Amino acid sequence: MDIEFVRSRFIKHFDGTTGSVYASPGRINLIGEHTDYNGGFVFPGAIDKGMIAEIKANGTDKVCAYSIDLKDYVEFGLGPNEGPRASWAKYIYGVCREMIEHGVDVKGFNTAFAGDVPLGAGMSSSAALESTYAFALNDMFGDNKIDKFELAKIGQATEHKYVGVNCGIMDQFASVFGKAGSLIRLDCRSLEYEYFPFEPVGYRLVLVDTVVKHELASSAYNKRRMSCENVVKALQPKYPNVEYLRDVTVDMLAEVKGAVSDEDYMRAEYVIDEIQRVLDVCEALKAGDYETVGAKMYETHHGMSKLYEVSCEELDFLNDIAFDCGVTGSRVMGGGFGGCTINLVKNELYETFITTVKERYKAKYDKSPKIYDVVIGDGARKLC
Ligand code: GLA
Repeated sequence: MDIEFVRSRFIKHFDGTTGSVYASPGRINLIGEHTDYNGGFVFPGAIDKGMIAEIKANGTDKVCAYSIDLKDYVEFGLGPNEGPRASWAKYIYGVCREMIEHGVDVKGFNTAFAGDVPLGAGMSSSAALESTYAFALNDMFGDNKIDKFELAKIGQATEHKYVGVNCGIMDQFASVFGKAGSLIRLDCRSLEYEYFPFEPVGYRLVLVDTVVKHELASSAYNKRRMSCENVVKALQPKYPNVEYLRDVTVDMLAEVKGAVSDEDYMRAEYVIDEIQRVLDVCEALKAGDYETVGAKMYETHHGMSKLYEVSCEELDFLNDIAFDCGVTGSRVMGGGFGGCTINLVKNELYETFITTVKERYKAKYDKSPKIYDVVIGDGARKLC
């Protein structure tokens, strides 16, 4: 990410003066997918890619926002019914509105922003955008009185209310709380978290991007969440303390087999196993047992593909190639329906894996996958 680049565009686009610059990262997730909105555990880390925004109060009641990457300029007011049409600007407007509802006296500002976290690749470019503005507005107009937990929730509420994705808290949490070199084990119910230094000696983490994003991903995502809620509802008459699938065991689930659809049942099976896998992977990591970490990653892929049904042909193909190459762990990362696989690869296999995956993917789909080496970076911050 390049501050000078963003600054030069800000100067050019507005009145020649400069403002303050803020940045927030995208994220990876080692394991724990679709567990966050089920009150379970996740294991993400912020990455060295994200969004940078320059911002300056402009003395009006309007936001003047320029997306450097899209070369698109939008103006909008801060009132409840002044939302912009451009989808990228809805994220900024949503964050402004949520901050106002949290008592921050947000005023008009000029802003230009750019990102190097690929859009639609499952690395949470949208959370990076939300966290950047939540952090910035808190600093500029809120005396930093909103704590980091609330900043993450403001990003999440923006997705729910202004974008229409009923996401969990993982992406925004990782983007705000990220710490260089560490993964974060997060309990999504209590929001208790623990940093895990991640230095897998002898291994590398690499993302392979299918460069596909399937349509209707957000409505399919919301449907998955509904399936989970249906199962919880079916269990509550007998188990009133069940709040999330986190509270459900395989035996309890079996009791409602006939009462929920086969599809909802399958989804819940996946989630219950996946929550346990996060805990297992944390233990394995503490013991330096990367073989177990990798085996769990393959299990997650299988569950996401066959039970939760959020994979796609291209992702399954990448997973098969990883397996054929002897890669220790590989799975679809993030919400699914396109985007990346995350791969835990032994150093000595890295070059062969990358060459093979590029060749075979290109031969089958006539397009090149993108490769990103994972560097675990810091969370939301002011740059200058
Ligand atoms: C998306 C959502 C997250 C999480 C993941 C799947 O990234 O934003 O809240 O549910 O999908 O783990």
